Amino acid sequence: MPGLDTPDPSTVPRLHAYTSVWRLRADAWTSLADVTKRLADALTPPDLRAGLQARITELVLLLDPLETYWAYPGRGRLQQIGALCDTGDYESAMRLTDTVRRQLSGHEEPTERPAFQVLVVDDIPTPEADALREEIRRLRRPEDPFIYELVIVPSFEDALVAVLLNSEVQACVIRPGFAVTSPHSLADMARFIENVDLLAVQPLSTDERMLQLGEQIAERRPEVDLYLVAQVSIEQFAGTLTRRFRRIFDRRDLLELHLTILQGVAERYEMPFFTALRGYSRQPTGVFHALPISRGKSVVNSPWIHQMSDFYGLNIFLAETSATSGGLDSLLDPSGPIKKAQQLAARAFGAEQTFFVTNGTSTANKIVVQSIITPGDVVLVDRNCHKSHHYALVLGGAQVTYLDSYPLDQFSMYGAVPLATITQCLREYRQQGRLDQVKMLSLTNCTFDGIVYDVERVMHECLAIKPDLVFLWDEAWFAFAGFHPIYRRRTAMAAARRLQQRYRSAQYAAEYAAAQAAGGQHEAGPLPDPEKVRIRVYATQSTHKTLTALRQGSMIHVFDESFQHLNEEAFDEAYMTHTSTSPNYQILASLDVGRAQAELEGYQLVQRQAELAMNLLDAVEANPQISKYFRFLTTPDMIPARYRRSGIDFPLRGGFSQMEQAWQRDEFVRDPSRLTLLIGLTGIDGDTFKHSFLMDKYGIQVNKTSRNSVLFMTNIGTTRSSVAYLIEVLVKLAEELDD
Ligand SMILES: Cc1ncc(COP(=O)(O)O)c(C=O)c1O
Repeated sequence: MPGLDTPDPSTVPRLHAYTSVWRLRADAWTSLADVTKRLADALTPPDLRAGLQARITELVLLLDPLETYWAYPGRGRLQQIGALCDTGDYESAMRLTDTVRRQLSGHEEPTERPAFQVLVVDDIPTPEADALREEIRRLRRPEDPFIYELVIVPSFEDALVAVLLNSEVQACVIRPGFAVTSPHSLADMARFIENVDLLAVQPLSTDERMLQLGEQIAERRPEVDLYLVAQVSIEQFAGTLTRRFRRIFDRRDLLELHLTILQGVAERYEMPFFTALRGYSRQPTGVFHALPISRGKSVVNSPWIHQMSDFYGLNIFLAETSATSGGLDSLLDPSGPIKKAQQLAARAFGAEQTFFVTNGTSTANKIVVQSIITPGDVVLVDRNCHKSHHYALVLGGAQVTYLDSYPLDQFSMYGAVPLATITQCLREYRQQGRLDQVKMLSLTNCTFDGIVYDVERVMHECLAIKPDLVFLWDEAWFAFAGFHPIYRRRTAMAAARRLQQRYRSAQYAAEYAAAQAAGGQHEAGPLPDPEKVRIRVYATQSTHKTLTALRQGSMIHVFDESFQHLNEEAFDEAYMTHTSTSPNYQILASLDVGRAQAELEGYQLVQRQAELAMNLLDAVEANPQISKYFRFLTTPDMIPARYRRSGIDFPLRGGFSQMEQAWQRDEFVRDPSRLTLLIGLTGIDGDTFKHSFLMDKYGIQVNKTSRNSVLFMTNIGTTRSSVAYLIEVLVKLAEELDD
């Protein structure tokens, strides 16, 4: 089979063969590099040349609309390559194309200064756009921490496509001159924004359109800094600015805009604790304190253990200290860089407060449960929860009511807890007059096998029965989810914020009053009382499982309207109870760095992780040899149709919009980056398959197995090559099984 890394150059890539525009683009550039190389080679036979030239035309046509949304290489460079080919200068075309190919496939070393792109939304003629790009380039200074280029798009529609397609966009400047619909034929790109109602934008005034565009971009990519450029009376506009925009500028104020754009990205790039630790490690110190390993003293000169420093390098020892002074901070009583790092994490994950935990989510769960529970409180908990919950509930003296997930007997697995089971349980407590004893609902989202709850709906329906219920969402496997627009909807923090906005709105008060007047009837079921409802939501995440962080690096995110009033002290107590007075600084630094990375490139990484899983699924299905013995479970296998209102069986295959629809409507969805391979037909059980075949023979690590299945996960570090390797291994295993 062709390796995933090398598309077949004899065919022009087509979108229908992929879910991914990103991959299509990279493959098309690879094909273009290959074709120009062949044409530049004097030995290529003349009878092949006409075919290759026709292929260049096709590839340029394919790439042209896509490159509209990228500053680099962009349409300009593509046209330059097209022109070189027209004049027969394939040598130069090949060199240019090859550089692009290498950069898109990530084979180039990162540049010294990070680079990003800034989206400008304005319908201006090409010469004006070129002049603007040039003017911005002239403002660059050697001391700028980053460089950026502009992508200029003419319409509302193009702007939304651009922020979804181009993950290198870090800031967006909205100017008044843009149109609503795209002048280009968006063709396949339109699938990104099928769910956007452009007709509703048409009647809006220019100002309203700008604000609306800001809202829509922020909903999709909240990390992108938004700037507004107004032509007239910016003072008047400034008064109506939504919180979505960082600043408003006059059109002529390019220098200010440039500096503010750099400043905005610098704020996400800031890593206060990592920076403090690096600074500390460079200071000369004499240690008359604990920790002989600090500064490598006990290791470097030892004839017996110096290999430890040979292996790790000296920096890790220079960064080991038990000091909380000298620019550092104390995790137990943070007031400096750790506090700042936690505040930045709260911003990034959409929490009101975030706490770093250096002993994994096992400990994070214990902290939250102990802070909320007093002996005798009733906690509803998923029977298949992680064991840390059981320990936490025993320690807290809770009365536990277990909730059962729907079974998936055929695959020796469980699904997740249906909403009807949860609300039924709460109603039973109400009927018994014991609702006031129920304190908390604790669920795992997503489950180990990748089943994801409709978090907002669960909380809404539970709050309609018990308006002060506390929620603990164990997101051990879901830290990455906050950085992708589709996943984000189903995180605890995003759902808590949306519910707060909804319940505090005048519209909701009216809706509730109308429902009360109709005898408590509302088409969507009972509503929480806006006077009584309190949003009290906690999420625990193993940052180390799905984002960049050292093992055991976890976070607790809090969105609790009663935190200060009801829980701050108890939380502090619980945090102290379970936290070492010598927390590991390397773990804390890695949490800080992992957060910055997620804010700067999380969207791209998460999108790629989902797509690579999809490629793996497709490759296994398409390969008759592999599919003789193996098959990946699909959404219909794992989520019965009664939990899928959208009726969409293969959400990711239908593209971005279909996935969005399923994730908006279905009670449960499946995280596409987790794939369960059914191995029953091999006659080998999951455990033996994992150890004796995947691990010992081919060095492939997987996590969970069942009697007849093995769980594979892609993560933000997965590459196309590693997916290709796994496919090769499955082919080899199938051959062995044949033998
Ligand atoms: C659902 C769930 N919660 C909590 C944990 C514990 O996380 P950690 O390993 O970060 O302590 C795990 C670990 O696998 C888990 O699966």
